[in-house]
Amino acid sequence: MTSGTDALKRAAAARALESVRDGMVLGLGTGSTIRFFLDLLGERVRAGDLSTVVGVPTSRRTAEIARGHGIRISRLRAQPRLDLTVDGADEVDPRGNLIKGLGGALLREKIVAQASDRFIVIVDESKVVERLGTRSPLPVEVTRFGSSRHQAFVVGLGAEVALRRAADGSRYVTSNGNYILDARFPEGIDDPVALNGSLRARAGIVENGLFLGMTTRALIAAPGGVRTIEPDGTAAPGDTR
Ligand code: A5P
Repeated sequence: MTSGTDALKRAAAARALESVRDGMVLGLGTGSTIRFFLDLLGERVRAGDLSTVVGVPTSRRTAEIARGHGIRISRLRAQPRLDLTVDGADEVDPRGNLIKGLGGALLREKIVAQASDRFIVIVDESKVVERLGTRSPLPVEVTRFGSSRHQAFVVGLGAEVALRRAADGSRYVTSNGNYILDARFPEGIDDPVALNGSLRARAGIVENGLFLGMTTRALIAAPGGVRTIEPDGTAAPGDTR
């Protein structure tokens, strides 16, 4: 049975698919919302009208799903410039800034998004926040070496920090061999640009889940329909495709 949230995720995914043309090179994000996008894209690939689309996946899981649908898969080395990346998010603010990485793929997601001409984000309405960090922790990917020092540094920035654990209780390790710190800011993130700068300047912090000024368009699915947030801060009701 499809839940209400799943129906919204699917609606956002269907809207994003309208921006896909045959022959495009697509960055393929990670997560449960992207799963719907892959399912819908797969239907069109099998139907033949998007059969020459090439996907660059951001995780092993996404690559497996895409292959299962018959979607051609490639790598950044072979496809240095992508037409479009479609990905989910954990939070979206009114200017289209994001927190990503609860699924653990933030580094590859950011690399692929930055290699793309356009970056479309698909979410259900529960992900929309006025201030980043109020709903989700900020995932911070750090080297294993010195991880306790990285944790202390992030605590010093005002966060309550937990080292992410896998389901079996062991330390979660990313596809890049790193740990993730989940940083909760009790009042949300006051200045995302400054926080991003502090994190980026620190040795051993590999990447963080703030995706600032990167979104071309965020598609927000609610029971009343899919609305759009454009990067200039305009929240447009209805379709501005
Ligand atoms: C993966 O690392 C994340 O950035 C996901 O894109 C994000 O967590 C959204 O996932 P869902 O679509 O499952 O909510």
